[in-house]
Amino acid sequence: MEIKQVRLIYFSPTGTTQKILESIAKGIAVEDVKHIDLTFPAGARQTIPPFSDELAIIGAPVYGGRLPVDAINRFKRIKARNTAAVVIVVYGNREFEDALLELKNLAIELGFNPVAGGAFIGEHSFATKDTPIAHGRPDRLDVRKAMDLGARIKDKITALQSPDARVDLEIPGRFPYEGGPRSLAVSPVIDKDLCTVCGTCATVCPTAAISMNECMSHNSELCIRCCACIKICPAGARVWEDSTMKYFANWLHENCSARKEPQIFGIDV
Ligand SMILES: Cc1cc2nc3c(=O)[nH]c(=O)nc-3n(C[C@H](O)[C@H](O)[C@H](O)COP(=O)(O)O)c2cc1C
Ligand code: SF4
Ligand code: SF4
Repeated sequence: MEIKQVRLIYFSPTGTTQKILESIAKGIAVEDVKHIDLTFPAGARQTIPPFSDELAIIGAPVYGGRLPVDAINRFKRIKARNTAAVVIVVYGNREFEDALLELKNLAIELGFNPVAGGAFIGEHSFATKDTPIAHGRPDRLDVRKAMDLGARIKDKITALQSPDARVDLEIPGRFPYEGGPRSLAVSPVIDKDLCTVCGTCATVCPTAAISMNECMSHNSELCIRCCACIKICPAGARVWEDSTMKYFANWLHENCSARKEPQIFGIDV
């Protein structure tokens, strides 16, 4: 089977998942690559035509060893007809636990035929300058591994007799799934002395938790703690004041700094 079109389907508040998917697509080396970015509220409402003979690369970050609920809800709008798919999770150098298995099973439920999977590492959303966790990842080595995975996926799919050929993809994880992000109704606070009210943070919030009024207010109930607003703020005006979030960042920095490497499933490496 020849790959003519690649579709990148993702939820990626701080962009690391998107970067891995783009690198895999580069390794596949097909001209027709389109993004279905479900990160932002407007993108999440887009009309998505049913999939058929494209190759889909579906990616999401790991939140509490699981998929983010918003990613699941947005992916559930997609329908496929035995479309070959690669499932990818990106995690912050702690663990990915049940997230990749959950994504594989969700992909099957949506009508995809998962042929390969991968768990890559991205800088942890909670990392700060003082508590770095997987700083700068995915880095050049990760990108090279993702491109290499793309090339191998191409070989595997080319060797398939037909797009319908069911692949038995083994992914580690527990079912029923365990874990999930802790429920904490907190959001980053704004340092009003630094904030220039430029509005950039509101444009990257995946849940529309930030209102663009004169004091840039936010709704903590909607906040999923993705940290996109903190990472994008050009003035460094968004920070965590919440003690639990500070504790998490410190703990992760102290316990999860040893470099982990991407893991690939369904492809001989
Ligand atoms: C609420 C929340 C929970 C997270 N839980 C985990 C986790 O269980 N394990 C882990 O290694 N990283 C965890 N992370 C870190 C992200 O998986 C990681 O930073 C990822 O690269 C973010 O992807 P993105 O850049 O596509 O948004 C969590 C991040 C957030 C915001
Ligand atoms: S991005 Fe930073 S400076 Fe701009 S409005 Fe948001 S908090 Fe203020
Ligand atoms: S307000 Fe919360 S959900 Fe919105 S970008 Fe900031 S951390 Fe993410």
